[in-house]
Amino acid sequence: MTLELSHPAIEDLKRSARRRVPHFVWEYLDSAVGRETGRAFAEDALDQIRLMPHMLRGITDSDLTVNLMGRQYPLPFGFAPVGMSGLIWPDAERILAKIAAREGIPYTLSTVAAATPEEVGPKVGDQGWFQLYAPSDPEVRRDICGRARDAGFHTLVLTVDLAVASRRERLQRARLTNPMRLTPRIVLDAARRPAWAVATLGKGIPKLKTLERYADTTRRGSATAHIGYQIRTAPDLPYLRALREEWAGPLVVKGIISAADAEHAVRAGADAIWVSNHGGRQFDGAPPPVHQLPQVRAALGPDVPVIYDSGLRSGLDIMRALAMGADFCMVGRAVHYGLAAFGARGAAHAVDILRGQLVADMGNAGCARLSDLPDHRVLSVS
Ligand code: FNR
Repeated sequence: MTLELSHPAIEDLKRSARRRVPHFVWEYLDSAVGRETGRAFAEDALDQIRLMPHMLRGITDSDLTVNLMGRQYPLPFGFAPVGMSGLIWPDAERILAKIAAREGIPYTLSTVAAATPEEVGPKVGDQGWFQLYAPSDPEVRRDICGRARDAGFHTLVLTVDLAVASRRERLQRARLTNPMRLTPRIVLDAARRPAWAVATLGKGIPKLKTLERYADTTRRGSATAHIGYQIRTAPDLPYLRALREEWAGPLVVKGIISAADAEHAVRAGADAIWVSNHGGRQFDGAPPPVHQLPQVRAALGPDVPVIYDSGLRSGLDIMRALAMGADFCMVGRAVHYGLAAFGARGAAHAVDILRGQLVADMGNAGCARLSDLPDHRVLSVS
């Protein structure tokens, strides 16, 4: 049976993913922080946004292209950075990079990926964005950014919503440690999912490969402890200004919720703002990020690009975020559910699902262009 029939929605991929990867991997991918209300509210808030469909416009073939920071994209979404996606499925970073290159959509490689910019660059073509967790040492920062640039990543994304490590209670319960320790429980979990275990064993235990070379075991106990120390600094506006001086290409600030923060970031040199609650993984108490989009848009005006992620599970969700004021969207878990469920084929299928939904829902909303979506927003559903 084709995936199209058996898995017509992201929820179907999610169900299969859970059955295919070990429990600790599932918990890594799916979990959020605390009581996970931040994550749930982000998804519910999207559901509640209603778009007025318009008839008698003769629209069957909507334009899904977007211009963003000087580039044309055929679809209004790309891939958000997901650290250690190589744990979710072996070689995930290269698989996703290849799909992004083929589709002509951005792939954002995480600082804490299981593959380096040098390994992923040749696969991602002209679609590489690189996500930076602020290293405290400016030399390390310059080195990492230089490596990303030399490997062909043209857009830099500074993530600012990971000031300190969040508690991620579900991960603790699943006994997943960093670096991964092969405790009997982890081995048993893995043995229950032979397809994942065999594929992963072939590639070796996934590690934070980009950061490996900066590990200094003499300074803070283990290499990982030092890596954590290197990147777990909360960036401030002077840090952003320094990064602006160093990075010549487009610079995006990711993890903004408030309009005031968005304005400060733009004044400090950001070219675009990425509104996100990190998929609910950092701070459980924030308001739904999609509700903040109108204020962010009003504060920045029409010319500063606004990118949105968190809770997007369908083409309609993407349309809702665009209707609220975003120019472009990024998906994190949605494509990784596909990857976990069926490897490269599943990730590519997740893109097909989102595209198919966009085509159908744009047509049925009677919306010819993505930039017209704000006109379809229904302000009150009561
Ligand atoms: C993330 N996210 C993330 N963000 C980032 O800037 N750097 C990173 O390394 C990671 N790592 C990461 C791992 C996992 C397993 C997840 C699920 C998420 C956050 C990610 O970029 C994005 O903001 C969220 O995934 C968006 O929410 P959805 O689409 O997953 O609901």
